[in-house]
Amino acid sequence: MPVLSPASSEEIRAILSETHALWGEGMTLDDYIAFVRAQMESPWGRENFQYLVWKEGALVLSSLKLYRLQARCGSRHVTLGGIGAVYTPLAQRGHGHARAMLAAVLERLPAEGAHGALLFSDIGAEYYRRLGFRLMPSHEFSAPLALIPANRSSPFVVERIRDTDWPDVERLYERATASDSFVLQRSSAYWDHWRRKTQERLKRLPAGSTSPRHWIARRRRESVGYALTVFEPPALVLKELIVADGDQEIADALLAAIQRDGERLGAVRLVGWWPPLAWSRFLLSAGLHPRPRTRELTMIASFDPALDVQQLAACGDLFWATDHF
Ligand SMILES: CC(C)(COP(=O)(O)OP(=O)(O)OC[C@H]1O[C@@H](n2cnc3c(N)ncnc32)[C@H](O)[C@@H]1OP(=O)(O)O)[C@@H](O)C(=O)NCCC(=O)NCCS
Repeated sequence: MPVLSPASSEEIRAILSETHALWGEGMTLDDYIAFVRAQMESPWGRENFQYLVWKEGALVLSSLKLYRLQARCGSRHVTLGGIGAVYTPLAQRGHGHARAMLAAVLERLPAEGAHGALLFSDIGAEYYRRLGFRLMPSHEFSAPLALIPANRSSPFVVERIRDTDWPDVERLYERATASDSFVLQRSSAYWDHWRRKTQERLKRLPAGSTSPRHWIARRRRESVGYALTVFEPPALVLKELIVADGDQEIADALLAAIQRDGERLGAVRLVGWWPPLAWSRFLLSAGLHPRPRTRELTMIASFDPALDVQQLAACGDLFWATDHF
């Protein structure tokens, strides 16, 4: 009977050598391996991120990444197992190994205190549906940058985020999402992990292929909103847009800054995941519309009545692209 166990260094290397072509993002193999290791070795990663293998003796039959995520669902705190990079070595495909491994993970997660499991599927919904996952709303948008209104008179100063601004960003996220019906909770260690991941990616990708453009809005000296974007020529990708008190004017100022920056960079389109919950109203008011995503489909399996997937699905999209692991 195969068993689930933490992958050794050699096993991770062997898996990454195969997944490099699929998920290497254009990095060299050594950089891709170093990129994954850096994520495992951050303080948050050491506590909340494991590479697991499904093994029969010494033979690796399948593999995945498993994250431990904290969320709030209504007034309940829930823990989610985040499943990523499900991969069966080519020589082992088609024998039900990934299915058996996922079933073992789903059996183990409740015993470890998880209320549910989350993944972003690149292979459609059917495979994971059969394992008990439910498809959640998963949308994206893509619009000519010129469509975004570039409001030039605004009471807000919008500047690039500096290192010293991140504590404000963390606080804004926490406060502004406090009334959302569902939210992934982000500790300072999580934010640190996310920033490290971004930096580690940046230093390893071919120059010019991606550049983070992060913005903070201030009224007088007070930070009142932020937007995380990445320029991936020829598109500017919106990853997250958070404002204090749901203030439309702050969102408009941030979108206008993004629009002007995109024009300077020569970007032609603004694209991204459709924002979660009520955050999407800022894009709707800028004339943008959602369409279903074909990749990175959000799927959740629930092990606990506190995590009602039907109710969740009715809320709309649930995650920012920033939450993708
Ligand atoms: C998807 C994957 C993990 C399945 O591994 P496996 O051990 O062969 O899986 P199982 O034997 O349990 O199931 C095989 C089934 O997977 C499904 N499947 C595999 N690849 C698929 C794809 N690209 N799209 C949709 N379904 C797919 C099919 O239903 C297949 O059944 P079939 O062989 O009758 O067509 C494996 O194909 C793989 O590693 N692919 C590359 C990485 C990847 O895309 N991972 C998924 C990320 S969300």
